Amino acid sequence: MAEGIPPTLSVVTGDGGGIVWVLGVLGDNLGALEPAARKALAQARYVAGGRRQLAAWRTWLADRAALEAGARAVPTIEMTDDADDFVQQVAQRAVDGGVDVCVLASGDPGFFGLTRALLRVVDRHRLRVLPAPSSVAVAFSRLGLPWDDAVVASAHGRPLADAVRSVRLARKAAVLTSPENPPQALGRALLDAGVNLDLVAVCSRLGCADETVHEIDLLALAAGRFDPLSVVVLVGPGGLQSLGWGVGSSVSSDVETGPSGRALAWGLPESAFTHRGGMVTKSEIRSVILGKLALPAVGVLWDLGAGSGSVAVECALVCPGLTVFAVEQDEQAAAVVAANAARFGAGVHVVTGHAPEALGALPDPDRVFVGGGGSTVLDAAVRRLRPGGRVVATFAALGRAAEAVEQLGRLVQVSVARASQLPDGGWRLTGANPVFVVWGPVDDEEPPGVGRDVEIDGRRP
Ligand SMILES: C[S@@+](CC[C@H](N)C(=O)[O-])C[C@H]1O[C@@H](n2cnc3c(N)ncnc32)[C@H](O)[C@@H]1O
Repeated sequence: MAEGIPPTLSVVTGDGGGIVWVLGVLGDNLGALEPAARKALAQARYVAGGRRQLAAWRTWLADRAALEAGARAVPTIEMTDDADDFVQQVAQRAVDGGVDVCVLASGDPGFFGLTRALLRVVDRHRLRVLPAPSSVAVAFSRLGLPWDDAVVASAHGRPLADAVRSVRLARKAAVLTSPENPPQALGRALLDAGVNLDLVAVCSRLGCADETVHEIDLLALAAGRFDPLSVVVLVGPGGLQSLGWGVGSSVSSDVETGPSGRALAWGLPESAFTHRGGMVTKSEIRSVILGKLALPAVGVLWDLGAGSGSVAVECALVCPGLTVFAVEQDEQAAAVVAANAARFGAGVHVVTGHAPEALGALPDPDRVFVGGGGSTVLDAAVRRLRPGGRVVATFAALGRAAEAVEQLGRLVQVSVARASQLPDGGWRLTGANPVFVVWGPVDDEEPPGVGRDVEIDGRRP
């Protein structure tokens, strides 16, 4: 068994088998291994790792430090696409064979690395993990940025869409890329998601002699060709100014507070959105609309007749997992929607076109907000709605609202009066035109006007 176990690590218990050393290596630089790692590697009876790490190990064997430590060529276990088979072979050599095995892993093996896979087959007391800095830590350090407020996602052996969903609203993020999901594929997916970024950096082959760091923009990321062994750093609006702890959060990412630093909240004032001639849903009405939409965590939402896009933007901010389409026929208004979404870092797909024709190419919705377009648009929304879905529509005119409630089932009239101060310091209320909010379909159990009741312990409160 190798000597030099750091005193902080617990001694292996059990049947007296070998140790599985998991040595982090950044890039191909085994020369940077700490003394305990170097000693373990020199004394191991097997060396395991990916092709890149094993090649680096073979090169290292000729180093003076390796020779001094008594390192010699030993049998290897090479990682294949079948990670389970790899860790199984490692475990068999160490546990059944009773000898030490060194696994060479990239960066910090506990961070999107091999430690998790090894734990499936090896008791954690048999592991000795000696990490190098993670590629993510090194990427941010190369850029001179803190990263305790960054969201990190991996597209290595995982679906790219999941990584995009995790990072698209983050103020600051890093994505680990891979041969199947290289940086340019991430760029194209982020463009499709309508993400707005202030800084994109592709940090490739960190720790290797040919390391590169390219600061570019999203278009260049999507159009380029990059080394798959990269960390892509993404900084959204406000991210370069964010101070981590300074944002008032004790968590290490901005998932909890969202990109605007707000807790779960909606109903921003109209002035928060660029709009043309008052074409923006009023703050209080928007709050009711979001409530009636009963947004699911994931799914597809259409905002039809989006105007300023305020409803689409708030839905996307409240539920980042939703795929939000804002349909607007007026080209200038559509540009305003895109600008509002970009300013908030909201993932909104803007569709410039006339509904219902423009809906043909969109995926069927789970939620629809109809802010304009008349009965043909409402009919199309209801027809395309997925099972369990819901449509919410607003009307100023009672006649059209009455038609819609026949179709959807529920209606409230919302009257808002805002207080303003008089010159003598007193307050007066100014009423706005009432708005009819109509929603459905609803099941028979739902009482008119108040939305769905929730059962607690089988009883209605
Ligand atoms: C399975 S993950 C391992 C991450 C590793 N545990 C860490 O802490 O860096 C593999 C991904 O990490 C990133 N990566 C690892 N080494 C890198 C390097 N030297 N330069 C850039 N990215 C690297 C790449 O995105 C690669 O696809």
